[in-house]
Amino acid sequence: MKAIVLVGGQGSRLRPITYDVPKAMVPLRNRPFMGYMFDFLKAGGLSGAVLSLGYLPDPIQSYFDGQDLEGFSIDYAVEDRPLGTAGGIKNAEGYLDGGPLVVVNGDVLSGANLREAIEAHEASGALATIVLTSVEDPTAYGLVEVDHDMKVRRFLEKPAADEVTTNLVNAGIYVMEPEVLARIPAGREVSIEREIFPRLQAEGLLGAYVSSSYWRDIGTPRSYLAASQDVLSGAVGAGEGFEFLEVDPSTGRAKGVKILPPVSVAAGCVLGRSATIGGRSALGRGCVVGEGAVVEGSILFDGAEVEPGAVVRGSIIGPNARVGQDAIVRGLSVLGAGCVVGEGNVLDQGVRINPGVVLPPRSMSF
Ligand code: GTP
Repeated sequence: MKAIVLVGGQGSRLRPITYDVPKAMVPLRNRPFMGYMFDFLKAGGLSGAVLSLGYLPDPIQSYFDGQDLEGFSIDYAVEDRPLGTAGGIKNAEGYLDGGPLVVVNGDVLSGANLREAIEAHEASGALATIVLTSVEDPTAYGLVEVDHDMKVRRFLEKPAADEVTTNLVNAGIYVMEPEVLARIPAGREVSIEREIFPRLQAEGLLGAYVSSSYWRDIGTPRSYLAASQDVLSGAVGAGEGFEFLEVDPSTGRAKGVKILPPVSVAAGCVLGRSATIGGRSALGRGCVVGEGAVVEGSILFDGAEVEPGAVVRGSIIGPNARVGQDAIVRGLSVLGAGCVVGEGNVLDQGVRINPGVVLPPRSMSF
């Protein structure tokens, strides 16, 4: 059985990072997110995946071309315009073998038991089965009510607090029969959640499988950062030989550097005198952290630089971006690729700085 992985979206909620790096390729513990997705699919017994691509396909294809995935096949179906979540499935149909298939949103990090979900689907007689997961705050999601016989009873789109009848949400993981593909019109934008599933539900053909395993989507800065911290602490995605302290031996460490696990420091980083790399941080290749600077609970993409005395806390620093001397970047701030935060600025409260922007010294404070 193969999977279709939907990775064609623009990832607008994760901008400005996704202007340069597609959501599927953002690093978690210095490994592109798609790597965890393939582990998940392989653990479910699948033999390969078709990546349904649209926005920024090249970085995804070139990363996997020539990689040894131990017998796990990858094909690419590229859209010339966005076809939506069902249109993206239809567009990948030519790479399938005509049997049942798994479909996953390419932004969910999951520890669900995919084999069990497939078995539940096969036993149910449903045309499609949605994996559901429970969330703490259901008002931010589309909720799915389930009958006693595990058929979907009703969809509730982002309900008000007093309308909440369940905390189960669509986990973005589906098992389906090939007949579902025949129900998707070709050549136009179609949504699986809004068009295809409600029709199957109305006919009593939509099953549900509830997973209580780890689940998080990585679609917003907050959830991406949380997913990164979960992977660093081994809560999900920990492979063989997992270690809380993953510091590449090529790392340059001056005197007095403090590194607090869980942490991941990729090759070629340079850590200046008395710098602190606090727990739950990931530093990509070639990052530089200057003297006395502090990085805590953050993600630094490849080539990011934190100058002496600067503090980066709970934030995301894009590729080759630079945080100037004594600047403070905190509170879920997100810096796009190559931007420069001049000396002494303070960034907070989820501020997002677009790629290439240069903030003059001391021009922003909170
Ligand atoms: P936002 O713009 O932040 O909503 O992100 P998104 O559109 O990338 O993701 P969303 O959560 O809305 O979509 C769920 C999954 O479907 C993601 O993995 C997307 O990459 C994927 N997706 C969304 N739209 C399309 C599309 O038109 N074509 C394809 N192939 N995939 C899509």
